[in-house]
Amino acid sequence: PNICVMISGNGSNLQAIIDWVEAGKINANIACVISNRPDAYGLERARNAGIEAICLDHKQYDDRESYDQALLTTLDSYQPDCVVLAGFMRILTSEFVEHFSGRLLNIHPSLLPKYKGLNTHQRALDNGDDEHGLSVHFVTPELDGGPVIIQCKVPVFEDDNADALAQRVQEQERSIYPLVVHWYCSGRLKMNNNKALLDGKVL
Ligand code: GRF
Repeated sequence: PNICVMISGNGSNLQAIIDWVEAGKINANIACVISNRPDAYGLERARNAGIEAICLDHKQYDDRESYDQALLTTLDSYQPDCVVLAGFMRILTSEFVEHFSGRLLNIHPSLLPKYKGLNTHQRALDNGDDEHGLSVHFVTPELDGGPVIIQCKVPVFEDDNADALAQRVQEQERSIYPLVVHWYCSGRLKMNNNKALLDGKVL
């Protein structure tokens, strides 16, 4: 399978996926990495791995529709079986999401349906939660609302702050996201009727 990864920043999830592909633990070709920000360190990670690194700067486009159309056209030229959102920090139009429906994965740093959107770690702290975590889900037009594939919990400690909590979550992200991409690339994971299925069973 061909996969394309979309990023906006550091790209630690991208790196984990690259590492799994290089180790033969994901049977896929990373066809390209696309960032909406020119300064995203993840672009360098892609180049270092010999992967095509593309910047499509959203600031060069008049509106979300034209930007997402450019993204879609670029991605389509790589014929992706799967588009992996790995810290891509922009809301996508429903046209884009529907075009890649069933092929579009995202990782979100909260135990969905809790804390959709931004600043999830601080919100978990502010609410006095004693656990927090991450979710990997199929993307549907509802923001952070698509069917959940897997979640991973981490504890929240008494003296925590948002940075420490984010690090604890990201450490788990680096093993969970490649696993899900592996499931997808080996044909085990599908989306059907707005449900995530693994080996034909609803998750
Ligand atoms: C991750 O915490 C992910 O859950 C969120 O953005 C962050 C991306 O980190 N959507 P990185 O760019 O993969 O290091």
